[in-house]
Amino acid sequence: MINSLLLPCKVFKFPPKKFERPKGFQNKGPKMELTITQPDDWHLHLRDGDLLEAVVSHSASHFGRAIVMPNLKPPVTSTAAALTYRESILKVLPTDSNFTPLMTLYLTDTTSRDEIKLARRSGVVYAVKLYPAGATTNSQDGVRDLFGKCLPVLEEMVEQNMPLLVHGEVTDPNIDIFDREKVFIETVLEPLIQQLPRLKVVMEHITTMDAVRFVESCKEGYVAATVTPQHLLLNRNSLFQGGLQPHNYCLPVLKREIHRKAIVSAVTSGSKRFFLGTDSAPHERQRKECSCGCAGIYNSPVALSLYAKVFEEAGALDKLEAFTSFNGPDFYGLPRNISRIKLRKTSWKL
Ligand code: DOR
Ligand code: ZN
Repeated sequence: MINSLLLPCKVFKFPPKKFERPKGFQNKGPKMELTITQPDDWHLHLRDGDLLEAVVSHSASHFGRAIVMPNLKPPVTSTAAALTYRESILKVLPTDSNFTPLMTLYLTDTTSRDEIKLARRSGVVYAVKLYPAGATTNSQDGVRDLFGKCLPVLEEMVEQNMPLLVHGEVTDPNIDIFDREKVFIETVLEPLIQQLPRLKVVMEHITTMDAVRFVESCKEGYVAATVTPQHLLLNRNSLFQGGLQPHNYCLPVLKREIHRKAIVSAVTSGSKRFFLGTDSAPHERQRKECSCGCAGIYNSPVALSLYAKVFEEAGALDKLEAFTSFNGPDFYGLPRNISRIKLRKTSWKL
């Protein structure tokens, strides 16, 4: 595919001297350039072993930090495991990289309050991920009893100001797969927030106008959402266009065009409640192209360009930087990056 896109081309390790904040494109003759604060990825799967080594530089070359998902085999359920995983990521980073992995814990029915205290004290664990058991890749050890067994842990997370990151889908096979996010909001998220209004929640990879409305209806600073490039660019037709397209299969699954449009409007509106989370989820090719393929779209090499394309097409390039680089750290209470990245519009082949 050949496309004319804003391609990340340079990272400034510190602000260039006499830097002036760009208002959208700097149209310099044939070169169209945009310089923004270096983005972070607030939802990323780096895996481990050979796969980790193969993919990490694609994130590290564009993003300053990333929230690293814990759904390994076995999952990262303890601070000790998160520390070990972090070391293995740092070990395979390019030597000149400043990329910082922000670790997460995988919530189970047996996670203890003490584990949350340990996680907070570690200084390297930034959130806890809720996978409803059976919802997606490596979620079999996930949560089965959120309002029962997990409640004390959730209360401790409120105490520790530790965000809960949510895979927002019910797992009941009788619920239509396209309705699972909406039903999750109604049956899990709304009651959860009523019960624990001070819990910080990130609804990950939102896919519906229902999720947009829900996030917008909550108290700012407590509930936010990440948005992937694929849910901004594709609708469910992309799964079947010209034949079954396994590389467009992820969870939550792509939805109708009205939902895609609602998500584009939300992120390009300038709202602080939405921020960049690629959900880049690499799988080996034979696990995607087979009779029962895995869910997950690997997008980290192109994600930033794809987000820029969405904002450009919506006439909202002036809102891109807040989405990619401000709203996430502000929600997590972390400093914004100081480095900047330059995007240059060019024709390129994926
Ligand atoms: O499509 C997905 N892939 N969705 C998820 O929630 C998990 C991810 C993965 O780990 O492969
Ligand atoms: Zn994910």
